[in-house]
Amino acid sequence: MNQPVMEGLRLNVPAYVKHQRLIAWVAEIAALTEAKDVYWCDGSQEEYDRLCQQLVDAGTFQKLNPAKRPNSYLAWSDPSDVARVEDRTFICTDRMEDAGPTNNWMAPKEMRQLLQTGDQALFKGAMRGRTMYVVPFSMGPIGSPIAHIGVELSDSPYVAVNMRIMTRMGRAVLNVLGDNGEFVPCVHTVGAPLVAGQADVKWPCNKTKYIVHYPASREIWSYGSGYGGNALLGKKCFALRIASTMGRDQGWLAEHMLILGVTSPEGKKHHVAAAFPSACGKTNFAMLIPPQGFEGWKVTTIGDDIAWIKPGQDGRLYAINPEAGYFGVAPGTNSLTNPNCMASLNKDVIFTNVALTDDGDVWWEGMTDTAPAHLMDWQGNDWTPAIAKETGAKAAHPNARFTVSAVNNPALDAEWDNPAGVPIDAFIFGGRRSTTVPLVTEARDWVEGVYMAATMGSETTAAAAGQQGVVRRDPFAMLPFMGYNMSDYFRHWLDLGAKLAQSGAKLPKIFCVNWFRKGADGKFVWPGYGENMRVLKWMLERVEGQGRGEEHAFGTSPRYEDLNWQGLAFTPEQFHTVTHISDSDWAAELKLHDELFTQLSHNLPGELPATKAKIETRLAAK
Ligand code: GTP
Ligand code: SPV
Ligand code: MN
Repeated sequence: MNQPVMEGLRLNVPAYVKHQRLIAWVAEIAALTEAKDVYWCDGSQEEYDRLCQQLVDAGTFQKLNPAKRPNSYLAWSDPSDVARVEDRTFICTDRMEDAGPTNNWMAPKEMRQLLQTGDQALFKGAMRGRTMYVVPFSMGPIGSPIAHIGVELSDSPYVAVNMRIMTRMGRAVLNVLGDNGEFVPCVHTVGAPLVAGQADVKWPCNKTKYIVHYPASREIWSYGSGYGGNALLGKKCFALRIASTMGRDQGWLAEHMLILGVTSPEGKKHHVAAAFPSACGKTNFAMLIPPQGFEGWKVTTIGDDIAWIKPGQDGRLYAINPEAGYFGVAPGTNSLTNPNCMASLNKDVIFTNVALTDDGDVWWEGMTDTAPAHLMDWQGNDWTPAIAKETGAKAAHPNARFTVSAVNNPALDAEWDNPAGVPIDAFIFGGRRSTTVPLVTEARDWVEGVYMAATMGSETTAAAAGQQGVVRRDPFAMLPFMGYNMSDYFRHWLDLGAKLAQSGAKLPKIFCVNWFRKGADGKFVWPGYGENMRVLKWMLERVEGQGRGEEHAFGTSPRYEDLNWQGLAFTPEQFHTVTHISDSDWAAELKLHDELFTQLSHNLPGELPATKAKIETRLAAK
């Protein structure tokens, strides 16, 4: 019964799998995609090592020098498959307005025709010549009441090994699933079927890409890419796009947020969750080491990218990190600005699209001041500083990443795995803005905070394919990750705040930050990284009802004398450069808020334009 044989294809169902619906679905997808073989991942170390060796044999992985970087591998992707593809990402709801104007939409029936049922359906025969890996995973601690289970069927062993690091993956998950548990079905193919005898390439993928979500049936279908959020479907597809819909229906939040703990020298601990867009500093902030002048302070990491946040019995908001590893940006990471991250990368890492040194280690721009004399770049070409100077060739792709388990992080919070989560004292929203937005602003209340988050802008980065450095509105840092209508999501945040306030609970404070203001020389003025602790401490003082600041048109910001400058030479003039509010810049900025509200006018909560009107009145009264 557990070993159905379909047209010559063995499903290889392990005896411990009791879930007939799961087995039937695996059979259905194997038949659709015509996979050569089916392999059920058990999540063991032995299996991980074996699949990594298989990837080495296939040329996808290079094993790094074990003396320098034990148990670590380097993959170079196809140069066309290096980042998330937002214009190929779809939310398929019956009604277009349920996906909303910020998402690409297609009717479910039409999309299924294209992917599954039509004569030319892309998934038909897509796994020919390849093994289909069954990857059961839990987002959140296995068996915890807040966790949710997914099963990814993928023809990429690279995906299988990355999923083992990024999630709780394997047999233990199937045990929890039992014979009838709920799971989110995730189907992934690189879209590169092989005919008999055809040699494989190192990084199979397809020019055509579809990253598709059906929120109603909670399904994910991903075609054509093997990279990051396009392919590791537990992350952005499940834990944000599908989970945001689940959260709306069930009264919780799925957010693109790091979660950190801050402990004062007196031993008082706070928790904050911070949403910055992709490649705008979440991993770095989550691993912050307090600078000189902050002796006795400690920052610990709960999560670096995604938070699931639920109201507790006491009316406070509790956050968990649904992930188990970090898929972090390599370029710019070094032992001065992020020593915790560098220490996390000492062993057991999968690197993707960084450069290879002559002694079998890795390098990327910003890792050291002086580049090695010779490298193989991420495309496998010879690279020297002279070549780089002449051609501009990067050693590492700007969106090169590492995959590493959270337990490698020396600053991992003792509660990171606690199914109950940690109580959130403050939410921080921040974008990458060369101008306009001051270093830090506190919202006067929840609605003003929601306004700040909703209207946030940020310069685009290499984390997504497309033009970089262009300011766009990125509400809540969720623009690419929303599973439903953005205006309804604003409403969800407003309603949740109102509900918590009604219960008498103290709401988290909401702040907006910008580490990225530039001076006339085009360089960042604020030193950032560990020095962000100076701003974080001010925010915590405000949470405690202490700390001084100055009210202005859209909130409260610290004056120079309100921050602790011990150990840092940062002048009042420099402070002015990163904090001043220019009337003309803000007049232009508010026009962009208007454009956003026009785009989102369907169901836009009236509180938001009303907040904007108040800001305009205050600006005019200056
Ligand atoms: P995703 O994984 O894409 O969601 O990115 P992230 O938000 O975790 O960003 P990450 O911390 O990886 O930082 C991205 C880039 O911004 C890296 O090159 C960092 O070195 C740089 N960065 C992070 N924090 C700061 C900061 O405080 N100041 C400056 N100037 N750069 C920063
Ligand atoms: C992001 O782009 O926000 C990431 C990387 O965290 S990816 O997993 O590719 O989405
Ligand atoms: Mn991210």
